[in-house]
Amino acid sequence: MSDDMIDVTILRREDHAAGIAVFELARPDGAPLPAFEAGAHIDVQVADGLVRQYSLCNAPGGTDRYRIGVLDDPNSRGGSRGIHRDFAVGSTVRISAPRNHFPLDPAAERSLLVGGGIGVTPMLAMAHALRASGKPFELHYCTRSRDRAGFLEELAQDFPEQLRLHFDDGAADQRFDPAACFAGLPAGVHLYVCGPTGFMDWVIGAAKAAGIDGGRIHFEYFNADIDTHGAAFEVVAKRSGVTVRVAEDQTILDALAKAGIKIPKSCEQGVCGTCLCDVIEGEPDHKDKFLSDEEREDNDQIVVCCSRAKSARLVLDV
Ligand code: FES
Repeated sequence: MSDDMIDVTILRREDHAAGIAVFELARPDGAPLPAFEAGAHIDVQVADGLVRQYSLCNAPGGTDRYRIGVLDDPNSRGGSRGIHRDFAVGSTVRISAPRNHFPLDPAAERSLLVGGGIGVTPMLAMAHALRASGKPFELHYCTRSRDRAGFLEELAQDFPEQLRLHFDDGAADQRFDPAACFAGLPAGVHLYVCGPTGFMDWVIGAAKAAGIDGGRIHFEYFNADIDTHGAAFEVVAKRSGVTVRVAEDQTILDALAKAGIKIPKSCEQGVCGTCLCDVIEGEPDHKDKFLSDEEREDNDQIVVCCSRAKSARLVLDV
């Protein structure tokens, strides 16, 4: 979690039929918030020691408020459930400044935005930004059924030309078919994907199979089910001058914390990138859902809340 947290007031809460609550957050005194770009997210402190990340879904450019959409997830580890239960209009909550690990690529000539379920939220900000810049795009919104889709009215109103809706329980010809969608795409087309893990793996796999190179596939996972266990190894924290052993059932993050080395962390699921560290020596065993294929191959960074080592020893710049 960021050290520079901002106190904001909940100005408005809208509960969509789909179990999605949409919140508008502003500084209590109305002062501007830090500017953000499409794809950015903020940390939201749900309770003591419980922080979650949410994409900003309002049009970038405005600094008077942030807007986030939160799905009441039945498998919640406390985050979304707590927000749905406790976040009421008028209450004060703590958030971080926006960070963006999922930016639009200015080189894209055309963009395909693919949002699964609540993964549509960053796509809303992206769609606003692309329309403001006059760049062509399509927004594919995939959900299990129409009644599980939030934002439908505003999407239909704001992006009538670009919106494509896909419901799993709808007619076969409107279901999302990534292989057909990605076949023969010209080189200037970039793909942006966000949604549940299985959905993202499916869409990204189809994009790769269609020959779209990794540099044109942009994604942001918001949760992941990662097995962090594996063989023990040694980690040298070079700047701190400390060496620790990471046990089979321990993460690098935990082993370093035990030795008094505190690495910033947030999701602890390998999706947000907060705990990313530079690797000086050794070969990481990447298990995260944050780094791109190219970044993994470089082997000079590691997400220490979940990844391990292929080598017996890793030297980190911490
Ligand atoms: S804390 Fe989020 S990726 Fe490690």
